Amino acid sequence: MALMMNNSRAFFFLLILLPLLSSCADQKQVYIVYFGHHSGEKTFQEIEENHYSYLSSVKLTAEDARSSLIYSYKHSINGFAALLTPDEASKLSKMDEVVSVLRSHPKKYSLHTTRSWEFVGLEERTKPYFMKKEDLLLKSKYGNDVIVGMLDNGVWPESKSFSDEGMGLVPPRWNGICQSGDAFNSSNCNKKIIGARYYIKGYEAYYGPLNRTIDYLSPRDKDGHGTHTASTVGGRRVPNASAIGGFARGTASGGAPLVRLAIYKVCWAVPGVEKDVGNICFEEDMLAAMDDAIADGVDVISISIGTSKPMPYTDDGIAVGAFHALKKNIVVSCSAGNSGPAPSTLSNLAPWIITVGASTIDRAFVAPVELGNGKKIPGVAVTPHYLEKKMYPLVHAAQIVNANVPKNETMLCLPGSLSPKKAKGKIVFCLRGAGSRIGKDLEVKRAGGIGIITGNNKEIGDELYPDPHFIPGTGVTYENAVKLFKYIRSTKKPMAYIVPSTTVIHTKPAPSMAIFSSRGPNTISPDILKPDITAPGVNILAAWSEGSSPTKLDIDHRVAKYNLLSGTSMACPHIAATCALLKAIHPKWSSAAIRSALITSAGLNNNEGNLITDEIGNPANSFQFGSGHFRPTKAADPGLVYDASYKDYLLFLCGSGIKNADSSFSCPENPPRPVNLNYPSVAIPKLKGTVTVQRAVTNVGSSRSVYFASVKPPAGFKVEIWPPILFFHSVGQKKKFSITVKAHSEMEGKMEMDEYAFGWYTWFDGIHNVRSPIAVSVA
Ligand SMILES: *[C@@H]1O[C@H](CO)[C@@H](O)[C@H](O)[C@H]1NC(C)=O
Ligand SMILES: *[C@@H]1O[C@H](CO)[C@@H](O)[C@H](O)[C@H]1NC(C)=O
Ligand SMILES: *[C@@H]1O[C@H](CO)[C@@H](O)[C@H](O)[C@H]1NC(C)=O
Ligand SMILES: *[C@@H]1O[C@H](CO)[C@@H](O)[C@H](O)[C@H]1NC(C)=O
Repeated sequence: MALMMNNSRAFFFLLILLPLLSSCADQKQVYIVYFGHHSGEKTFQEIEENHYSYLSSVKLTAEDARSSLIYSYKHSINGFAALLTPDEASKLSKMDEVVSVLRSHPKKYSLHTTRSWEFVGLEERTKPYFMKKEDLLLKSKYGNDVIVGMLDNGVWPESKSFSDEGMGLVPPRWNGICQSGDAFNSSNCNKKIIGARYYIKGYEAYYGPLNRTIDYLSPRDKDGHGTHTASTVGGRRVPNASAIGGFARGTASGGAPLVRLAIYKVCWAVPGVEKDVGNICFEEDMLAAMDDAIADGVDVISISIGTSKPMPYTDDGIAVGAFHALKKNIVVSCSAGNSGPAPSTLSNLAPWIITVGASTIDRAFVAPVELGNGKKIPGVAVTPHYLEKKMYPLVHAAQIVNANVPKNETMLCLPGSLSPKKAKGKIVFCLRGAGSRIGKDLEVKRAGGIGIITGNNKEIGDELYPDPHFIPGTGVTYENAVKLFKYIRSTKKPMAYIVPSTTVIHTKPAPSMAIFSSRGPNTISPDILKPDITAPGVNILAAWSEGSSPTKLDIDHRVAKYNLLSGTSMACPHIAATCALLKAIHPKWSSAAIRSALITSAGLNNNEGNLITDEIGNPANSFQFGSGHFRPTKAADPGLVYDASYKDYLLFLCGSGIKNADSSFSCPENPPRPVNLNYPSVAIPKLKGTVTVQRAVTNVGSSRSVYFASVKPPAGFKVEIWPPILFFHSVGQKKKFSITVKAHSEMEGKMEMDEYAFGWYTWFDGIHNVRSPIAVSVA
């Protein structure tokens, strides 16, 4: 509801804004007119003139053309963003040299933190957050002098995580700038944050000028997300960091503590909605940022931004920008999205992007409930408020509501619903399902309750976030909510005590897949298995903006230097950091080789030695974790890599029906099938009979080596690798092989359409396990 209101309000803005810009105000929108790559030696002025000439050809006056231009992309990306009517856009799309014209959809992109409001409806407005396992890998000399570009919503540069103490000079190849603005000037950049810029023209074309009380017109982060992801990639080691209340206390450190960070602020607060729901990123702004990042000299780009559903590459600004990055061998790591557990919900699934899912780590925040009957119910919280140790009267909300509360809302503890006379001195049990979790705390507090237990409804099930409650409190699963309810009804004088929250480490099993992590199959390119990999994305501790409270609610005035956050947004920078380490060790590797090293070295097991499970304890599969959980140290020495060049991706696009991605390249008459892109995993949709897939591996291990193939075929299929042995005599040597997949005859007709089976094949030389997942479905 809030979202829809915001939609119509924004649209209203647009309608009153446009008459100022043009006489035919009806439906002007931002379009991106894309020409592919720059060719030849044009000056910036010539490029801009060229873009104007296209615009002028559809606009009535030169003035009109000038005022409608938003960005002219000049470095790597050749194109411009402008306000156009559908008619003008359509004319432009038919012109010579125009590759595509893409309409910018204002609601398309957002930050991938926790389940955003789009997926959970009205309910969870707060997105509490949390924690990070201590440095998985780092022999942390690595990362030095690698530059990671962060597309996000800015940075809080004063955080200790961004100290440049002891760091060497900025790499001389760096071309970026430190852009000044609100509460931000060149003194805020240092040898850690070596560049910072912001991009807001697309946002302002839609919403009008930024309201500078809701965000900074500068690279400074008001929200916290950008600070969190940047410090996850490259934060220095900060001992004794913790979330509010001292939870998750330990050394906070980014994955690559000596890496250089370049901040590109592309996401902004949405006007007129609560802070915690409002973040929006426009693709014309992101394209401008990526164009600059490529020219500035970044080595890796981390983007925890995406859509809530799959997007064809030609309609996806991130995919287009990342394609230009690929040409310069820049590695791009992106979040897979938070639209799980439903299938086919992936975002950022181009094969030149590393698509990262989110999983749990082995840390939990427990706050169980002790009942009057001696039983104990598990609960989850990071509440910095405690009850004195004794039993307290326990009620469920419906027992203490005011008379005027509608029947369907009696359990929800919505504002004003509880009777202070009846709540006083009691622990109140409220149900989730509508209203914010923290809002329920405040209602119980207002009514004089002394503690709160929030119970999941059936739909929310087992999903629990450790909330920093405002009063002593905890949260319980649906199953336990039912138990609690039964207990309250079973006795005249129900009593309870909420045990203070504590941080528990080495919990088992871990990792397991986060319920919110978006799932395959890949509906845009079914021949490419996505996501690629999973990394920690649940309750990650990292630096936070002091411009925002840990819950981001207006009613919350607490300041936190570190905060716990969940989402594939948090997983993506773990992989970006690992890419930076790999770049430092192997500066000559292509971005495909780095992706391959990560994918083929990933692990399948949890800390109980079993296959990683999903959120309900079933074995997870490659549509959830790709090739598995990242293992940075193993990725540094993968043995073999599946390499791919820029041209290979062009051929892949040719085979996928996109023939004009680069005007200097013409598609061959019979391009290779997309399934033959040299990708380190295999997906075969709708298999009929037998399919043979081609791959090639490059030796990056010891010069003389012999690799043997082994297979764990997907259930119901036969998989053959030929040749089954590969001999290498030198580093850099490349060997081709084929993978033949055949359905057992009895499978055909038995498996459901679209039902996939999963397996893998491995090359092994006695040291390196080079494993590739396989996903197959039958026609
Ligand atoms: C940046 O701003 C700070 C605080 O206002 C000020 O002390 C400093 O001199 C400024 N630096 C530059 C280079 O303008
Ligand atoms: C800017 O945002 C603040 C805080 O939400 C609000 O009170 C104010 O009215 C807004 N200003 C404008 C011009 O919309
Ligand atoms: C860590 O910080 C807490 C509170 O900020 C403080 O009480 C404690 O002494 C610190 N521990 C160390 C080892 O510095
Ligand atoms: C309860 O029902 C009323 C009337 O049907 C409706 O307006 C309201 O949105 C419902 N409340 C919730 C939380 O679903």
